[in-house]
Amino acid sequence: MHDFELPSPLSGGKVTIVGLGHVGMACAISILSQNIASELVLVDRNPDKLRGETLDLQHGLAFVRNAQVYGDTQYSATAGSKLCIVTAGVPQGPGDSRTSLAPKNLEIFKEIIPRLVKYSPETILLIVTNPVDTLAYAAWKLSGFPANRVIGSGTNLDSSRFRFLLSQRLKVVPSICHGWIIGEHGDSSIPIWSDASLAGVRLRDVDSRVGTKKDVENWSQLHQEVVGSAQEIIKLKGYTSWGIGLSVAALTRAILENSQSSYAVSTLVQGIHDISEDVFLSVPCILGDTGVSRIILQTLNSAELADLHNCAKSLYEIQKSLHF
Ligand code: NAD
Ligand code: LAC
Repeated sequence: MHDFELPSPLSGGKVTIVGLGHVGMACAISILSQNIASELVLVDRNPDKLRGETLDLQHGLAFVRNAQVYGDTQYSATAGSKLCIVTAGVPQGPGDSRTSLAPKNLEIFKEIIPRLVKYSPETILLIVTNPVDTLAYAAWKLSGFPANRVIGSGTNLDSSRFRFLLSQRLKVVPSICHGWIIGEHGDSSIPIWSDASLAGVRLRDVDSRVGTKKDVENWSQLHQEVVGSAQEIIKLKGYTSWGIGLSVAALTRAILENSQSSYAVSTLVQGIHDISEDVFLSVPCILGDTGVSRIILQTLNSAELADLHNCAKSLYEIQKSLHF
């Protein structure tokens, strides 16, 4: 080969994924196949799994944009990452609650977060491991980062499940259905029915009873289905992966491309909507290359506010029982 001028090293789009289980690999393939990152570093504590998954992904690189993919058990390989996605930890089994995983996964985070911070002190941390709100808080504490650089994947997934279910009911595509689910990822998430819309038309402007107790069409059932989705999938296939992988890829794109678009993600909400506790919960946030650049203050009714405050209190109680 005759070299004229070698290309400069890839820059700016280095993403690390820690934890190469079902979720980590779904994130990896979603990010790679959509050409979002220029460099993907994979880390897992299991060296065989790490090598196997890395080789398998590398064998597909001929079919995506120029991107480097490599795996390492050593965190020095993650140095200079723009974004570190953490999916490592124990998953839920059928019937397990997300919160029951907190003590075990917190211990894993005590190992992982300081190492990521050591090699990428300017990175943004995107936490996916459950219980995601508590562990995003843990990552914030363990990293010492400003809150805007620690994000939990939060209710972005619940919101996309909601949009899918709305689309099924309305017989349209999910991308033109909008609806926010906020609060805690999972069982006590909060649907904001007043904002639910199809192509800009609010469902409540068509029928003011949508999502209320007076609603004869029982739209609230959709939120029940969102809440039950994870357990239904875990019962059927053992774990959830594709939905969260695509959801994390969308967040990754927003951060790497500095898109300043809005997503429901878990962020420090102390002082927001009169929440007094220092907890992480999902609210609509604007994402870009500084992480969360702004929080959007929705107009919430008294029931939605009460639910949000209850979420904050129960997360705070869980946090108090953990040793950071
Ligand atoms: P999994 O068991 O398939 O994978 C976990 C991986 O983490 C394994 O490869 C394991 O080797 C690795 N790991 C464990 N400890 C580690 C450490 N100290 N350092 C590096 N790697 C380590 O589990 P999964 O199905 O991929 O789920 C992972 C997590 O994601 C679970 O907590 C699950 O509940 C959560 N999850 C969150 C969402 C969400 O919406 N936030 C969605 C789905 C799953
Ligand atoms: C989910 C995970 C299990 O798919 O939190 O909702």
